[in-house]
Amino acid sequence: MRRRHLLWTLAAGAGAALWLRPDPHGAPHDAYFDALDRLLRAEGPGRPVLLIDLDRLERNCARLRDSVAPGKALRIVAKSLPSIGLLRHVLARTASTRVMAFHQPFLNALAAALPATDILLGKPLPLAAAATFYRELAPGAPFDPARSLQWLIDTPERLAQYQGLARTLGTRMRINLELDVGLHRGGLDDPRALDALLATIAADPAHLEFAGFMGYDAHIGRVPAVLESPARTLARAQSTYRAFVERARASAGATALTLNGAGSPTYRLHGPDSPLTEVAVGSALLKPADFDLDLLADFEPAAFIATPVLKVIDGLQLPGPDWAGRAWAAWDPNRRRSFFIYGGKWMARCVSPAGLADNALYGSSSNQALLNASAAVDLAVDDHVFLRPTQSEAVLLQFGELLAVRAGRVEARWPVLPAVDAGVGG
Ligand SMILES: Cc1ncc(COP(=O)(O)O)c(C=O)c1O
Repeated sequence: MRRRHLLWTLAAGAGAALWLRPDPHGAPHDAYFDALDRLLRAEGPGRPVLLIDLDRLERNCARLRDSVAPGKALRIVAKSLPSIGLLRHVLARTASTRVMAFHQPFLNALAAALPATDILLGKPLPLAAAATFYRELAPGAPFDPARSLQWLIDTPERLAQYQGLARTLGTRMRINLELDVGLHRGGLDDPRALDALLATIAADPAHLEFAGFMGYDAHIGRVPAVLESPARTLARAQSTYRAFVERARASAGATALTLNGAGSPTYRLHGPDSPLTEVAVGSALLKPADFDLDLLADFEPAAFIATPVLKVIDGLQLPGPDWAGRAWAAWDPNRRRSFFIYGGKWMARCVSPAGLADNALYGSSSNQALLNASAAVDLAVDDHVFLRPTQSEAVLLQFGELLAVRAGRVEARWPVLPAVDAGVGG
């Protein structure tokens, strides 16, 4: 009786395993990635590289330029496109002269390389970072921070610190105030808090000037729909923003203000009725995978990691008893080939060839990562695997120069911005 029970259990288990067995999938590179693979075999450095597809980037620039609401300006988010060459290309093709910066070494590099742009900070920097900026600004540099830089200030304490620095340096700082329009990442959340800040600024015109507001709204569309609709979240964010603008106009009479807000996921929500005078966008132009959003459906992925295959192994070999890898590969047809690639563990997803999968049991590696696939994935040593970054800001900094490619050629090599000071200025 007991033996019959055991047999039934085993049979049921085997049946379930067969029923759950994955279908084989995978395919070689399509024509697009095949062309990139051939280019890199001919001209690539034989290590992981970051490719920018110029045709796609330029189409994205045109889409962005044409979809910003009439009358609103566009500010390009430098941290998401962290390379002077890339930023120059984008600024020219979007007809923008405004940049948003988030990191002091980038800020100095932007001021040195793009002196004709207006730069707004996207986060409030510690006073020491602001002091470093002025110290490293080359004497006589064409970039004039008193005219073209807006520091972001979130509290009266920080305003007092910056005022002290402006007095010490004998300069005037343009002050943009950070608003909390619902993201709850800091900034002013009550328009009444404005009065004291604006009074401090108005009382010291030799050192301070009120330049406007920045209220980032990346929370729109992320609030669970059962709690609040995206339309309602947007309406609340805009009405908060409006309340600040009205109070500032009433008390300071300020007119030509920079009223910045939005980002890739939300800029299209700001129509003619929005209180913003400009929207900030960066990531959409390269469309990393985290930006696969309905509102950005027409944008094309334009950045890829390409890395050579170092080793090809038929089957799956895992450390430990040999039968374990063999059994897994016998059951799962998508574990029948193993590829070790140059590098790995990036914030990125494999896109070509289709059907490549990490192996969590083997573990991940930033030196030589293992990828598994079915027999349909016919990669050889020195072929390239292509991955799509999930975000751009950190990933783009990991490969040295960006390779800007078009029509089977490397058209430009763009160094990335320095993550630490490169000794600019004095
Ligand atoms: C203040 C601010 N504005 C705008 C953006 C939008 O940048 P992106 O378009 O690259 O998402 C960000 C992104 O973090 C941000 O922090």
